[in-house]
Parts: sequence; structure tokens; C-alpha cells
Amino acid sequence: MTIILFSVLDAKSLDASQRAEIIRLCSAAYAEDFTPFLELLLPTSVHVLARLDGELVSHAAWVTRWLQPHGRATLRTAYVEAVATAPAHQGRGFGSAVMRKVAELIDDYGYDIGGLSPANVGFYERLGWELWQGPLFIRTEHGLLPTPDEQVMILRLARTPSDLDIRAPLSAEWRPGELW
Ligand SMILES: CC(C)(COP(=O)(O)OP(=O)(O)OC[C@H]1O[C@@H](n2cnc3c(N)ncnc32)[C@H](O)[C@@H]1OP(=O)(O)O)[C@@H](O)C(=O)NCCC(=O)NCCS
Repeated sequence: MTIILFSVLDAKSLDASQRAEIIRLCSAAYAEDFTPFLELLLPTSVHVLARLDGELVSHAAWVTRWLQPHGRATLRTAYVEAVATAPAHQGRGFGSAVMRKVAELIDDYGYDIGGLSPANVGFYERLGWELWQGPLFIRTEHGLLPTPDEQVMILRLARTPSDLDIRAPLSAEWRPGELW
């Protein structure tokens, strides 16, 4: 039987070697240097690490963002980033296990909803995430910036309004780096 051990660490609790491990894993999975992306997440991120025999095999993190369906209150959103499994361990269920753990945790932390920008819609759909159907915008000091080329998925949690309409326009606050 394969036993994976999960740990959950906020950015402040990550030591240098854990940061280096996460960068190594994500750089290998995304085939690019992940250092600058992790730096942008780090001030507020919470990380889920999955280990097999001590080795980090899969990872996901979330940051808090404020998604707002048009005309409704902002939703305190756990916005998931850096979902990655080490290439040698892909296709063995580790990524799905990490995402199930993330779903459980963000519900427990009392978030209103989960969000992410998918590279792989099908991977997340199997896990209950829904592709947002309405137009997407970023809120800036100059008004709403349309982002028609982006895709966003959401995960309904216990606190998600039951009448949430995924065909409505949806906005998020501006941030440096990747807007969604
Ligand atoms: C995406 C990723 C995290 C998945 O990790 P993983 O550990 O291989 O995931 P799992 O083994 O749990 O799941 C893979 C399963 O998803 C399925 N899957 C993967 N992509 C899919 C897609 N686009 N549509 C439908 N199913 C998909 C696989 O067929 C497999 O199914 P199976 O369990 O029935 O065999 C991993 O491939 C990865 O690190 N990719 C590179 C980085 C990346 O793109 N991250 C996501 C950014 S949003």
C-alpha cells in the first residue's frame, strides 16, 4: 500500500530547505524556473506538501483573494496555485490526493469559495471544480480590466452562496505577476 504523508505549512513556517524543495518540484513539473512565482505567492501562501518515503512528490498552495460576482458581495477566496507533481510520480493519484486535501482544508478554514486558473480543465473537473462561464475582469484603480483570454474554475464550499450563478461577470483584485 502506498502511504503519502501530508503536511500543511504557511509561508512563514517554511524553512529554506522546504522552499528549495518546493521550487525544485515546481520547476521540474512546469519545466521553468519557479523561483519568481513562489516569491510572489510567499507572503501569504499556505502550502500542502505530499511526501512518499520522505520525498516531496506533490504540492499545491493557496493565497487569499477576493472574487466578486457582479452585483454581489466579495467572496473570500482560497485561490489555488502551484499544483505540481514530480514528473517521475505523475499519474499515480498524488495530484488528485493533494487537491482533495486542499478542498477539505479551505472548507475548514472557512473560505467562501475556491478558485484557480487551470492549465488542465479536465483534471480539476473530475475533482468537482467548475469552469466559470461568465466574463472575467480584474479590478484596477482605473476600473474593470476585461481578461477575455483567461479561464477560471471555482469550487463550491459550505459557505458558497447556494444561488451563485457561474454565468455572471466575475472580477478579482489586481495583483502583480499573473492576474488570474
Ligand atoms: C496536473 C498534475 C499536477 C497532475 O498530477 P498527478 O499527480 O499526475 O495527478 P493524478 O495522478 O492524481 O491524476 C492524473 C489523472 O488526471 C487525469 N488527467 C490529467 N489531465 C487531465 C485532463 N486534462 N483531463 C482529464 N483528465 C486528466 C489523468 O488521466 C489521470 O487520471 P487517472 O487517475 O484516471 O489515471 C501534474 O500532471 C503536473 O504537475 N503537471 C505539470 C504542472 C501543471 O500543469 N500543473 C497544473 C497547473 S493548473
